[in-house]
Amino acid sequence: MPQLKAASEYAALGGGKRLRPLVTLLVAEACGDAGAGGEPALAAGAAVELIHCYSLVHDDLPAMDDDDYRRGRPTCHKVFGDAIAILAGDALLTRAFEVLAQGLPAPLVGGAVADLAAAAGIAGMVNGQAGDLLGEGQRATEERVRWIHLRKTAAMFRAAARLGARCAGAAAALQDLAGDYGEKLGLAFQVVDDLLGKSGDPSRTGKPVGKDDERGKLTYPAALGEAGARAKAVEVTGCALEAARRLPRPGELLELARSLADRLA
Ligand code: IPE
Ligand code: IPE
Ligand code: MG
Ligand code: MG
Repeated sequence: MPQLKAASEYAALGGGKRLRPLVTLLVAEACGDAGAGGEPALAAGAAVELIHCYSLVHDDLPAMDDDDYRRGRPTCHKVFGDAIAILAGDALLTRAFEVLAQGLPAPLVGGAVADLAAAAGIAGMVNGQAGDLLGEGQRATEERVRWIHLRKTAAMFRAAARLGARCAGAAAALQDLAGDYGEKLGLAFQVVDDLLGKSGDPSRTGKPVGKDDERGKLTYPAALGEAGARAKAVEVTGCALEAARRLPRPGELLELARSLADRLA
């Protein structure tokens, strides 16, 4: 149906920062692949981004965060209606695995699919989303917020990094180190996103401020206060830098971690 195709394209090609595929490509390079993992790493990065884009479409629905703006324009369901937005999310999620299965050399497909499915599924992102929604209005403690953020956001960054290492031909131990970097980067990213959601500039973030507090979301600023959350962003960025230094050629990964923290400047 043309509406479904248009809604899927609206969600996937709508001007996101493409951070997760960037992680995949840079990790492939950091793991020693001169061609940055080549076509397989591109396919893996695209698969991760498709899942990310689907997660945003569903995240914005009235039954979830009920948001009207994303990436500086109306959310997918505002333009196409809830039903088509839900189906567009479903289409992007399934397309991700098609892209991954078609884009990787056969011996890498099984492990890559398992990694990505685990990150996106009940042990990872969707569980974090459930925790985020069920936690609305509850008392924010650092432990609870960390639990949610590790799943709703860091799990997909971890998978993005692991897939980059896998595409570069890294052994299991190096994939784990890469995944550790991804997870820490993802946590740092979400702490920064919480802060930008509270006091960022909507013309730069493309989404309104104050929504988390309105809905009683469990965020780092809610748990630690704004100054505490800023200090936490610095601390977890430091952890990501430390994890990057365990990889063979970390230069660009260090830059990326620093640039995410710089969004607060
Ligand atoms: C937004 O992620 C959702 C979170 C996990 C905070 P991004 O800020 O990476 O979204 P886009 O893709 O750039 O719009
Ligand atoms: C989004 O988290 C995380 C996922 C979609 C998995 P948030 O709900 O905190 O992010 P924004 O503020 O809507 O981008
Ligand atoms: Mg949400
Ligand atoms: Mg949201």
